[in-house]
This record gives sequence, C-alpha cells and structure tokens, in this order.
Amino acid sequence: MQNLLITGGCGFIGTNFIRYLLSESDTGTSAGFDGRIVNVDKLTYAGNPENLAGFEEKYPDRYHFISADICDHRSVAEIFSRFEIDAVCHFAAESHVDRSIVAPDAFIQTNIVGTFNLLELVRENRDAIKLFHHISTDEVFGSLGVQGYFSEQTAYDPSSPYSASKAGSDHLVRAYSRTYGLPVTISNCSNNYGPHQFPEKLIPLMILNSLEGKSLPVYGDGMNIRDWLYVTDHCRAIWLIMNHGRRGETYNVGGRCEMPNIEVVEMTCDILDRRIPDKNIGPRRELITFVKDRPGHDRRYAIDCAKLQNELGWLPNESFATGLEKTIDWYLENRDWVARARSGEYKKWIHRQYGDAGE
Ligand code: NAD
Ligand code: TYD
Repeated sequence: MQNLLITGGCGFIGTNFIRYLLSESDTGTSAGFDGRIVNVDKLTYAGNPENLAGFEEKYPDRYHFISADICDHRSVAEIFSRFEIDAVCHFAAESHVDRSIVAPDAFIQTNIVGTFNLLELVRENRDAIKLFHHISTDEVFGSLGVQGYFSEQTAYDPSSPYSASKAGSDHLVRAYSRTYGLPVTISNCSNNYGPHQFPEKLIPLMILNSLEGKSLPVYGDGMNIRDWLYVTDHCRAIWLIMNHGRRGETYNVGGRCEMPNIEVVEMTCDILDRRIPDKNIGPRRELITFVKDRPGHDRRYAIDCAKLQNELGWLPNESFATGLEKTIDWYLENRDWVARARSGEYKKWIHRQYGDAGE
C-alpha cells in the first residue's frame, strides 16, 4: 500500500488518521507508513481542510488534497488513475445521527451511493487495488439491553437513518467481497472523541457550552450508555487491520469504556471547574438541562473487541480520564478553529435544533 486514497480525510477521524500516518498525531507514535496519501473530501459542513493546513507544503510528495464528491464517478476515476491508487481507506460519510433524523437524504446519497461508487471503482481497478478498508460504526447493531456486547456475529438492527445507511454500506462492501472477490476489510467502532471533532457531537458540544456558561442539553434521562474510544486508538486499530487483518473479515473496535451520558457531561463540568473556575458561571453541573429525548435513541452500546485483541494484539492506550483531559486541552488551545467551525451552516442548523443551548 504505497498510494493510499483516503476519503473524508478533512473530517474528525480521517484527519486524525492522516496525522497518525504522517507521524503528526498528538501521541507522536509512528505508523511506519512511507507511502503517499491522496485525501478526497467534498468539504461538507464537517470537512475542514484547516485540520491539515500546511501538509501539502510540508509533504509535497506524500500528501495531496483533492476536493471531490465520492458519488462523482468520473472525478474519482481520474484520481484512481492519476495517482495509481493501490489501496483505499473509506471514512467519508454523513455522520451525525440528529441530522439524519431531520434530513436523511444526504446520508443515503453519501453513505450508500458513495460507497457503492467507490466499490465500483475498486472493481474497475481490481488489478491494482490491494485493499478497500471500510470504516463503520457499532450503531449498525442497534441497541443493547443492560447486559451483553456487540460481537462481529451480532445481527444488524439499525435504529436511525444514519445507522441504517451505514448498515447498507457495510452490506455492499461484504457483498462486493463475496461476489467479485475484492480484497476488503471492515471495522465497526464505538463512539470516538478527541481533537478536531465537529462541535455538534456530545463531548465537544459539552466542553464548549460549559466553557461559555451555556446550558448543557442532555437527551432523555441521561442514562443512555456509549462505549468511548480516544480517536488515536481507533486510528491505530484501523492501520493494524489494514496491514494484518484477514481479507474479507470484519473487526469490532471499542474502548471497553461504557459511560452513561450524564457521567460524561458531569466529568467534563468538573474538569473545567477545576481548570477554569469562573465565578460568573458557578458550578458547571448546574448548566445541565434535560431535554426531549432523541427519537429512536439507542439505549446502550458496548463492544466486544476480543477478535481484534486476540488476532492483532490491539488494546486502547488511552483511558477515558486521560483522553478527556487531552481533548479538553485541545479545545482550549484551538479557540479559533472552534469559532470558524461553528460559523455558517453549523450555526444555523444548531440554532434551529436547540435555540441558544446549542449556539
Ligand atoms: P465527520 O462528519 O467528522 O467527517 C466526515 C468527512 O466526510 C467530512 O470531512 C466530510 O466533508 C466528508 N464527506 C461527507 N460527504 C462526502 C462526500 N459525498 N464525498 C467526499 N467527502 C465527503 O465524520 P467522522 O466522525 O470523522 O467519521 C468518519 C467515519 O467514521 C464515518 O464513516 C463514520 O460513520 C465512522 N465512525 C464514526 C464514529 C464517531 O464516533 N465519530 C464512530 C464509528 C465510526
Ligand atoms: P453523539 O455524540 O451524537 O453520538 P451518537 O449519537 O452517534 O452516539 O451522542 C452521544 C450520546 O449523547 C447519545 O446518546 C446522544 C447524547 N447526546 C445528548 O444527550 N445531548 C446532545 O446534545 C448530543 C449531541 C448528544
């Protein structure tokens, strides 16, 4: 894998993955990759080329950014041939559940049709392509009760338009592997957090709102559970699977870190109270506001990642406590990024959703 096409590299996880491959991640760890990256991203509201500012100059032979839509067959075909692409790591997606409830169209288009388009291109270039790695989510499995874990054998049972569109894309990837013999791997990961996450997702939204003394909207009773994983640990897992995972296989990736949402929000409040006490704001837990629940809100996610651990020796490096501190550091140090990310479309949308709470 010397000419790697990365889709959605200007988004949260894609950015962290590219940084990891170029030894620019916050952990400083090296992936040992010495090839070339072509980052194809349509730059939706969630895609921010600033995340990788200066990389084209710093790595003129190793990093290229191209603004294109993965649904556009002709443009992406040209990229395959111009850069002699020999592997694909596919992140590009519409990724926010709340948006998928309000406006599902783009989810169907990018997540299903876009993935189909890429698979067709891999099929057309099959002699050159060594691997198509598909990034997916644990949300395809639906909701768990109080016990049990998602394994690679768990039946798909998606609840939101987002998770249904990701499930559709996973099925297509597996079908193309079985029908056309394409070399694929798939990873289904739990909730990520860390630097560069767009501030509509729970953790960055809560960090920024509590910093600014705004209300903290917690859906329902706050007891929905997510299994949190620091983004660089996810990136390490992806690269391990791409290099050593068995072709045609799926690997679950999770943090073994189940937390009810309310605890995540309270921890965030307490860290900010300790680090940036503000008399005008007072104890930040008092900003917590329980709001109307998300329709179809999955109660609990928890990943069994024994396959990844046993076959490939992966374990997360970061605990939730250390990962959250690092994440808060990043948002405190990157207020300009936040201001720019929050302007425009994001601001309009979040205002419609939450009024002042989300602004
Ligand atoms: P994100 O929303 O931060 O980034 C998505 C990126 O894809 C953006 O840069 C956007 O511009 C780009 N994009 C969207 N539509 C496109 C199109 N049609 N053509 C080209 N580019 C397009 O998402 P993320 O959180 O980084 O998630 C990346 C992937 O990981 C997604 O496939 C998501 O389903 C999966 N995932 C995310 C999480 C999580 O917690 N964030 C967990 C598990 C899996
Ligand atoms: P989110 O970050 O949207 O990720 P996902 O829906 O993909 O799991 O939400 C994480 C959890 O936090 C989820 O249970 C919904 C909840 N949540 C809130 O309670 N308030 C919020 O403002 C947001 C964005 C999410």
